[in-house]
Amino acid sequence: MTEVISVVSGKGGTGKTFTAANLSLALQNFGEQVVCLDTDLDSPNLALQLGHTPEDHTIEDVLRGEVSELKGVNVHDSGLMFVPSSLHLTDDTVSEERIREMVDRFSSFADRTVIDAPPGFNEGFYSSMRNSDRMLVVTNPEYQAINDVRKIAEEAEKHGVNIEGVVLNKVEGMLEEASKEEIEKTTGLDVIQTIPHHKEVRKSIHQMEPVASDPHSKIGHSFRELAANMTDREFKAPWYSKIVRSWKKLTRR
Ligand SMILES: Nc1ncnc2c1ncn2[C@@H]1O[C@H](COP(=O)(O)OP(=O)(O)O)[C@@H](O)[C@H]1O
Ligand SMILES: [Mg+2]
Repeated sequence: MTEVISVVSGKGGTGKTFTAANLSLALQNFGEQVVCLDTDLDSPNLALQLGHTPEDHTIEDVLRGEVSELKGVNVHDSGLMFVPSSLHLTDDTVSEERIREMVDRFSSFADRTVIDAPPGFNEGFYSSMRNSDRMLVVTNPEYQAINDVRKIAEEAEKHGVNIEGVVLNKVEGMLEEASKEEIEKTTGLDVIQTIPHHKEVRKSIHQMEPVASDPHSKIGHSFRELAANMTDREFKAPWYSKIVRSWKKLTRR
């Protein structure tokens, strides 16, 4: 059976797709077979975050029954399988049953299925949530965002879905930001990973190389730590990663 982890947030732009893509890659690089599903039909950026250009087959084709679940799968160099969405807006929503059918198809070979969910609280969000074994909530250190996290926590409890924790993304270290402690106290959830706002992220998309594909990237290490934490593994960043990063910076690679 494949374990389903959905990556959710209250609003768009928090870094769900960034997290889903890099968490999936980190798990794949630990030797698991992972399938990542883009169920955010309004903001379909999974392929982009994985360094792929628009794909032949998308989740819409699968939903309309034009291609089979397996034909909708694209493969990243790492072996990570993903079902992207397309930029063509359609009336389709990803129903709970269709996600379940897709997940069932993958369960014979995928250790884990990561869902890049649409922002809450529409039908697509609930479809993803109800098909999940556990959820990861991505938020930014803004006070408004904390209310969204609280609401997600309440909805998860109502539906009996376990929340693994919060990924606090785009941290700039400013005084005005909500702190990890404040978020934990207000939401009752653990912040299990903190990721800085960093120009490396934009660069990685421009260069079509996700941060988790670079074995020495500092943000890549954050995702390896997160993936290890979520799957009871040990991860320790190599001591020489810092030297490799300095060398790349000096030689502009
Ligand atoms: N830690 C970060 N540092 C800098 N930019 C980031 C970071 N996380 C995400 N971004 C950028 O923010 C934008 C929104 O991220 P995305 O993952 O698409 O959000 P969502 O899927 O929640 O809508 C993207 O351009 C992404 O590259
Ligand atoms: Mg997204």
